[in-house]
Amino acid sequence: MFISILLPAFLAIHVSAAPGAKITGCTVSKDKLEAPSGLAAPTAPTARFVGLGVGVQNYTCSAGGTFTNVGAVAELFDISCLPAVAFDEVTDIVFDVWEKAPKQVTAQSIIGALAIFNPPIVLGQHFFITNPITGSGLSPKWDFTSASLKGHPNAFVVGARTGDVVAPNDPSTNIDWLSLSAAQGDLASQIFRVETRGGQPPTSCTPGTPDISVKYVSQYWFFGGSF
Ligand SMILES: *[C@@H]1O[C@H](CO)[C@@H](O)[C@H](O)[C@H]1NC(C)=O
Repeated sequence: MFISILLPAFLAIHVSAAPGAKITGCTVSKDKLEAPSGLAAPTAPTARFVGLGVGVQNYTCSAGGTFTNVGAVAELFDISCLPAVAFDEVTDIVFDVWEKAPKQVTAQSIIGALAIFNPPIVLGQHFFITNPITGSGLSPKWDFTSASLKGHPNAFVVGARTGDVVAPNDPSTNIDWLSLSAAQGDLASQIFRVETRGGQPPTSCTPGTPDISVKYVSQYWFFGGSF
């Protein structure tokens, strides 16, 4: 399997010591979000969930020959209970595998093959909906109602952006870091997209060419909320 080749010794050394069974629901008190200036400050001392988003950012080619973002789709895997020291390395590893994987390989199968996620817990899904407040434009949504919080109809959050900074490293490859507040839903009152890997489109395009999807991975930190 191509994945086993990419698994660095790091995982075996650091992460196999992590608790296997209990993932969602552990305290993330030691995991401090380093929100750069330009993003909102977290309003709670600790996050409720930390998820790794594995998916694609979609773009359409505008008449001006540049790509415009038209949403994203990602599967959110729970990393809340990994040792905080491992978060960024795990993000790198998953992106490395995801980026190199053939098109037909799903995020689920990649996560399922990495021992660190044993057993993998899907928190939920991230996607875009029509802005529920204005009725036009797109709003990001994180929805746990079909996965980790099944049976809780309000276990979702629709975000409104409160901050946006270019990625500290390699911003031409990595999408911006964001802070958002809840416009709807009880899952969280604040959401942060940080430690982004990938997702940026090429700098130019030929108008009329098909939409593209660019693979990305990022950490999503959820604060507040009712769960
Ligand atoms: C993004 O593209 C993927 C295919 O790569 C597709 O499955 C998904 O529905 C698209 N989502 C949006 C919001 O455009």
